[in-house]
Amino acid sequence: ASKAPRVKKVVPKTDAQLKDIEKAISRCFLFSSLCEAQRKEVVDSMEERRYQSGDAVIEEGGPGDFFYVTGSGELEVFIAGKNNDEPLRTLKSGDAFGELALMYNSPRTATVKAVTGCLVWALDRTTFRHTILEAGQQRRQKY
Ligand code: CMP
Repeated sequence: ASKAPRVKKVVPKTDAQLKDIEKAISRCFLFSSLCEAQRKEVVDSMEERRYQSGDAVIEEGGPGDFFYVTGSGELEVFIAGKNNDEPLRTLKSGDAFGELALMYNSPRTATVKAVTGCLVWALDRTTFRHTILEAGQQRRQKY
């Protein structure tokens, strides 16, 4: 691994956006074990993405580039040939998705589609691995 300090990504945000992120991540267990610095890094690097009903946020088999937390709206999870009519899961405010491909360096395991207009917060792979994955490992080492 490189010893050079990592350049942290900071996407400027309005107070309303900061409030929206705080609300979304406070409902999600993946963020509960982050220390203050990791939490700040996550919030700084998140990018707002908007989708319309019918848009695919994630396509099954595609590359894993971002992890997402739902800000508002509803999305549904589908796996080809498995659940063509019934979604495997419906995602709402505070629900996270897209973690599997980033954790296991694998292709996307499912398609995630907006069923209403949606606002989601996208966290890039590098920051995800340095914050959420790392916090999980630190916690496991304690026990
Ligand atoms: P990932 O594989 O990165 O991209 C698709 C996402 O859909 C996946 O991460 C999970 O967040 C979610 N997902 C995949 N399979 C299921 C399932 N059976 N039930 C609910 N969510 C799923």
